[in-house]
Amino acid sequence: MKILLVSSSPHKEKSQTYLLAQEVLKGCPDSVKPEIIHLCDYTIGFCRHCEECHKKILHCSIADSMPGIINKMLGADGIILASPNYINQVTASMKALFDRTNHFIHCKRLLGKYVVGVVSSGSGQDKDVLDYIRYYSHTCAAQYSGGVSSRVPISDKKKKEALKLGKSLSKNIKNKRLFPEQMKIIEAGKEHFKKIMEMRKNLWIEEYRYWKDKGWL
Ligand SMILES: Cc1cc2nc3c(=O)[nH]c(=O)nc-3n(C[C@H](O)[C@H](O)[C@H](O)COP(=O)(O)O)c2cc1C
Repeated sequence: MKILLVSSSPHKEKSQTYLLAQEVLKGCPDSVKPEIIHLCDYTIGFCRHCEECHKKILHCSIADSMPGIINKMLGADGIILASPNYINQVTASMKALFDRTNHFIHCKRLLGKYVVGVVSSGSGQDKDVLDYIRYYSHTCAAQYSGGVSSRVPISDKKKKEALKLGKSLSKNIKNKRLFPEQMKIIEAGKEHFKKIMEMRKNLWIEEYRYWKDKGWL
């Protein structure tokens, strides 16, 4: 079972969000050797909407750290997305990462994977941030295995909640659990993009072929 933790706090190991995410990892079986990415160690440019990645899958006009991160995401069974609350949103670095994975949305590339959201803040008003991480998961077709958020300092109660989330994440991955309500959202997203793929088939050549190869068209 491959678990990837993507943490977007610039405080790295001293980050409260990372501390909470570590509890999620502790809930995973000992055999899991998680891969950890601190986004501040990478260079992630802003998406230019050149559509290169739709024409030629995983191609991009920006030369930076994204190919490595994308490969790690595609290779993971479970992805923990951990971000501090920055003005009731994920950090700009996390948003830049989301934008640069636009192809994941078009081709539902996180299908069969599981995402957990982790957020910390000064106020504890984190619903919008967790909701956004859940939205991102669904739009890429991942099952959202739950989220945990906490105001700082992080309490033992919150740590326990995070640990439980890690346990359910690994169980859901192992059992390939599908959440019926989430599947409805994912299917609706696919229906939406099915029409777009047909309309853009002469432009987004490789993404169209991907859909064809999957038997979705
Ligand atoms: C640019 C910026 C915006 C922030 N916006 C909010 C906010 O809207 N609400 C809030 O409760 N905390 C806000 N905070 C505080 C952080 O969310 C909080 O300190 C968080 O626990 C930091 O996590 P970290 O230790 O993982 O970096 C903000 C911090 C920064 C730097």
